[in-house]
Amino acid sequence: MNTRDVVLVDACRTAFGKAGEKGFFWHTRADDMVVKVIRELLRRNPQVRPEMVEENIWGATTQEKDQGLTLGRTSAILAGLPVETAGCSVDRMCAGGMTAVTTAASEIALGACDIAIAGGVEHMGHHPMGATADPNPRFLAEKLVDPSALVMGSTAENLHDLYPEITKEMADEYAMWSQKKAAKAMAEGKIQRMLVPMTVYTKEGWVVADRDQQPRPDTTMEGLKGLRTPFRIQGKVTPGNASGLNDGAAGVLLMSMDKAKELGVRPRMRMVAYAYAGVRPEVMGLGPIPATKKALKIAGLTMDDIGLIELNEAFAVQCVVFCREFGLKTPDDPRLNPWGGAIAYGHPLASSGCRLMAHLMYLFEERPHVRYGMTTMCVGLGQGGTVIWENLQGPGV
Ligand SMILES: CC(C)(COP(=O)(O)OP(=O)(O)OC[C@H]1O[C@@H](n2cnc3c(N)ncnc32)[C@H](O)[C@@H]1OP(=O)(O)O)[C@@H](O)C(=O)NCCC(=O)NCCS
Repeated sequence: MNTRDVVLVDACRTAFGKAGEKGFFWHTRADDMVVKVIRELLRRNPQVRPEMVEENIWGATTQEKDQGLTLGRTSAILAGLPVETAGCSVDRMCAGGMTAVTTAASEIALGACDIAIAGGVEHMGHHPMGATADPNPRFLAEKLVDPSALVMGSTAENLHDLYPEITKEMADEYAMWSQKKAAKAMAEGKIQRMLVPMTVYTKEGWVVADRDQQPRPDTTMEGLKGLRTPFRIQGKVTPGNASGLNDGAAGVLLMSMDKAKELGVRPRMRMVAYAYAGVRPEVMGLGPIPATKKALKIAGLTMDDIGLIELNEAFAVQCVVFCREFGLKTPDDPRLNPWGGAIAYGHPLASSGCRLMAHLMYLFEERPHVRYGMTTMCVGLGQGGTVIWENLQGPGV
């Protein structure tokens, strides 16, 4: 069977709210956030009529209540896609949205469909991490995993143990840069165009959620210094150098290159290769390293070929380790997260993979001479995922 080129045509997301009663999505359903993203992708791309969308795949870490009942199918119906549009849900925790995209892309590549919507959502307010999980007692009884593997912040403390030369100050410095880069990007209007505003009911009444709630543009090293270390007494991981607990949805529109040409749609980036890889669960933050090596090998590229890297910032320490592995300058390599990352914007688990893709899509537009970029992230219980993309917005394309 021959494979076909798959292109990303568009990407957008809701604003990311803070999880919990103070967050603007507290009274909003997760599936309604997904519907908002689907409808926005279609609104922005009128050449793609709803009946052309053959597949709708969504990732969520907790698949119950407003994130249950096969979200890919329910959201297709709720969004007004025709009954003929198929839909399914996938789960790879933080890489749920990324997995939705690579699954949909694989379908397109094999000719199972021409056009698909894929994305991820996580309402961490409605579904606190792991709250309803029931891990098999064998995990701990038979020492299959270290107990710390089940608490993501503890896995980040473990990384500090593994790399004692990475100090708390280095992690804080990385976090401060993420906030600064995000603040600059937001002030320059880079982020707003990715967002679909959503009118939501809050205790202040109806408001428009059109800006991320998490960023802290005034972050300073001094402010980060004294923060508590919730995962270990006298630890190094703090609320300032970790991603937050958030609500949000993000999605992308994918199609075959041929279909894009036929419809006259501008393809923004082509999927070159992707890979997932496992690591020890208690140091899950290492995941992007083997995933990236594997994806580069499949693509026949090296890190020197990659001009833009969108790395999900679950924890600052994990990003510093990634930078050291691949020879990137910390905390401010110009190729890495030029508009900041999850430490600033937040990390509604399964949605983050598609947020990274939205950033890369717009960054490619601003840097037309960059040919290749990547989106990469770590995953709970010890995995990493990396997707390599080619810029189709450059000269001569
Ligand atoms: C770290 C964590 C426990 C903190 O949760 P929290 O206590 O609700 O976080 P908050 O936003 O309320 O911040 C706590 C404090 O730090 C302060 N703070 C946070 N970021 C700061 C910054 N950049 N500069 C200064 N102060 C900051 C807050 O002001 C707050 O102070 P207060 O208690 O005086 O109000 C939570 O964000 C977490 O679990 N993150 C990791 C999520 C995760 O594991 N994701 C999956 C990854 S694989």
